[in-house]
Amino acid sequence: MKKHIQIGVAMVAMGFAMSAMAEGDQAIPEDSLGLSKVSVDDSPAPSVVKYKEPDVGTVNKRSVRSYPTAPPTIPHTIEGMLPITLDVNMCKDCHVQPKQIGKKIAKGMPVPAPASHYIDVKKGELNLGRWSCVQCHQPQADVPPIVESTFGQRAKTHKAK
Ligand code: HEC
Ligand code: HEC
Repeated sequence: MKKHIQIGVAMVAMGFAMSAMAEGDQAIPEDSLGLSKVSVDDSPAPSVVKYKEPDVGTVNKRSVRSYPTAPPTIPHTIEGMLPITLDVNMCKDCHVQPKQIGKKIAKGMPVPAPASHYIDVKKGELNLGRWSCVQCHQPQADVPPIVESTFGQRAKTHKAK
């Protein structure tokens, strides 16, 4: 019994010694320390990101959500729609359509802002906490992730109604 334990301890110690030897031989190259793949002393500029900016009403496809209950991204151009002020809110003019909630959306028509966005859906009274749409909704550029993640894969099984 005692002998078994001694052999076990000796083997573990040997394992540690061997892995320490293997690691000691290989220094991690400077350009493998982070995600940027350049020396840690460089200050690389991020690559220029291009947004797809299709005209409003031409997308005809529902936005993919990162996860259920995430605000969908804006699939169309928002040029000329910002800033949102107390007097001018173009997003609201197109999207606040309480009577359309739950109905089939015809091609080229705005997706109605959901019931969660109103104080009173019947009266079409928007919750002022939702006034600044771009606080939560943003256009999305088509950028490949630096590191693959399985987190978003759930979104693919979540179909918008
Ligand atoms: C002229 C009308 C119009 C304006 C203004 C407008 N939208 Fe849209 N929006 C649409 C239409 C139409 C769609 C459906 C996609 C398409 O065909 O472009 C849409 C789609 C969306 C979607 C995707 C919804 C989903 O579930 O797929 C979001 C989010 C959105 N718009 C947010 C905004 C925000 C935020 C603004 C203001 C910065 C805005 N929109 C301004 C008409 C408009
Ligand atoms: C505080 C964050 C927030 C603000 C501000 C906000 N939204 Fe949303 N929006 C969400 C979230 C979260 C969802 C998805 C969950 C849901 O359906 O309530 C959503 C969903 C939507 C959808 C998709 C509806 C559907 O049936 O798929 C549209 C369209 C939309 N919002 C438009 C707007 C517009 C237009 C404004 C500004 C008047 C706005 N939102 C302001 C968070 C926000």
